[in-house]
Amino acid sequence: MAPPKTIIEKIEKLRETIREHDYRYYVLAEPIISDEEYDKLMRELIELEKQYPELITPDSPTQRVGGEPTKKFPVVTHKIPMLSLSNSYTEEDVKEFDRRVRSILKTSDYEYVCELKFDGVAVSLHYENGLLKVGATRGDGFQGDEITANIKTIRSIPLKISPADRNLLDIEVRGEVFIKKEDFLRMNEEREFSGEKLFVNPRNAAAGTLKLQDPKLVAERPLNFFAYYLRAEKSEIKTHFESLSILRKLKFPVNENIKLCKNVDEVIEFWSNWQYQRDKLPYDIDGIVVKVNSFRQQEILGAIAKSPRWAFAFKFSSRKAETKLNDIKLQVGRVGTITPVAYLQPVFLGGTTVSRASLYNEDYIKELDIRIGDTVIVEKGGDVIPKVTSVVKEKRPPHTSGFVFPKKCPECGAKIYRPEGEANYYCENNECPAQVKGRIIHWASRGAMDITGLGEAVVNQLVELKFIRNVADLYSLYKQRDKLVQLERWGEKSVQNLLDSIENSKQKPYHRVVFGLGIRHIGIGIAQILCSKYNNIDMLMNAKYDDLQSTYEIGPKIAESIVRYFSDSHNIKLINRLKEAGLKFEAESLANLPLSGKTFVLTGALESMTREEAKENIERLGGKVASSVSKNVDYLIVGEEPGSKLDKAKKLGIPLLNEAEFIKMIKVK
Ligand code: IVH
Repeated sequence: MAPPKTIIEKIEKLRETIREHDYRYYVLAEPIISDEEYDKLMRELIELEKQYPELITPDSPTQRVGGEPTKKFPVVTHKIPMLSLSNSYTEEDVKEFDRRVRSILKTSDYEYVCELKFDGVAVSLHYENGLLKVGATRGDGFQGDEITANIKTIRSIPLKISPADRNLLDIEVRGEVFIKKEDFLRMNEEREFSGEKLFVNPRNAAAGTLKLQDPKLVAERPLNFFAYYLRAEKSEIKTHFESLSILRKLKFPVNENIKLCKNVDEVIEFWSNWQYQRDKLPYDIDGIVVKVNSFRQQEILGAIAKSPRWAFAFKFSSRKAETKLNDIKLQVGRVGTITPVAYLQPVFLGGTTVSRASLYNEDYIKELDIRIGDTVIVEKGGDVIPKVTSVVKEKRPPHTSGFVFPKKCPECGAKIYRPEGEANYYCENNECPAQVKGRIIHWASRGAMDITGLGEAVVNQLVELKFIRNVADLYSLYKQRDKLVQLERWGEKSVQNLLDSIENSKQKPYHRVVFGLGIRHIGIGIAQILCSKYNNIDMLMNAKYDDLQSTYEIGPKIAESIVRYFSDSHNIKLINRLKEAGLKFEAESLANLPLSGKTFVLTGALESMTREEAKENIERLGGKVASSVSKNVDYLIVGEEPGSKLDKAKKLGIPLLNEAEFIKMIKVK
């Protein structure tokens, strides 16, 4: 039977609405509905598509994450090669580029469009009849990988375009896939936490992500996109500037920092401005791209070898500097990780003054033989945090000696240790103030409980003033509202906002709670795996080492960390307090079932089923069966010839169910 017209219309309307909200959220960054409202729309659509699978189309917002992992990406040949750009770092070279343009065009009547040069991964998107059909990497410029399933997970990229002009239904769009600096840092933090290898910079993270064979994993990564090229064979677009504005109209994300320049001096001005502003941007750029605006003139200019003569990459000057290493100090991270930090003679580097740089770990220092007093090279790569990359050995002062890693935590003085096979040292004191704060910050972070208003500064303040000592304390913070309001920088409204977002965190699903606990090596992905195998915290708590280790993706390091975590009575106490506070310690699917959270006791014999079958029915619907009556029991099921449990239940006022009532309860659901 064909689906009713009303359903078809409803589905299409939902899709349109979701598309519009995706656009507002991911492209314009101006959402107008809450996450909950959005999720509701999405659930409604998923539900309808489940009922009418024949109505699922590839451009439905539900189809962003789909398909099975691929073994190898198919090869795509680019009809128009994806050229690279000639580039330079000097004004002289840009002027030379401009002279050549003028001499070939034989006129000074031309314009340039200046854009930022995003430091990401170039991709090409093909739309046919308005639908995204193919997404490919640049590869060697002539052939790339077909990564359509991965591309579709990027929510700012439209799966469907609805141009007013029919000539724009078949187009190719090129642009850059990238990861924002703050997302990159968070990603690496999570990877460090779960013992995964860190990405070097946001570009590598984006490139590594697009190469993943499983689109589901890609969907979890914070990929973004900027479109900077449009080819529409049937349309008559005349300039690059116009094509950018068309891309915008088609709802692609187009970067706002674009300038139409009349001459090369304006180009140089744009470049030098961004040279100093680049650190203010939320993403990495490594220069600007200058393009001749008119397509006709682009054609006249043509291309040489691998790069066009109408475009030029004007890069920012190198971000290396030489300076003196004054000291090496240890920093204590969120889970007690000890990181050595270089304290430098301040040096100006790519728009900011740098006085600290990362030294990663003991081995890194040893490998480069970095010593206090050395003259070192500091680099600011794509990865925001400057790092010491080498030592100028000729400038080493006499009488220095190799750096000896301290034995004590700089925050609390406790011993530090380096587990076998790991690069990091850890502070062994669980109550180390740095760790106490770190655990709370982690709990409040976006990937975990997402408590807005509970950032690093607030946590430090609340811990130092002894309002909180652990994450469970957050849930009784409301009792101290009057005192909080009096604190410096706080007021009625901000306190209320904080308490509200703490309250909201109780709605976060089980796996995020488990992630939030901050068990070493348990990143969000592993938390998800654990929670789907161990449906509630008691199961997880009681899981044996061997059973854990036999789980997909879980090796000895993680299994050991879990067992160690749950064998510490402080942690059990903490979990019990969180349970009491009402956090979710049960898998969503179970928690949503009709009988979840309900405990039943059986007495006497049932006619239609055995006790075992009754138990199965209850558990299937998410309920639990207890063997004796207590005040925690929700229902007593009373069969033939009941025992003393009936009297006890009556005394405690526990609701009774006869067999018919019980059957009704499990049938309806
Ligand atoms: S235009 C022929 N515009 O730079 C024109 N490229 O070396 C080719 N890139 O692989 C590209 N930002 O990944 C263009 N605003 C921008 C860009 C940009 C970054 C990258 C792109 C390409 C490389 C060219």
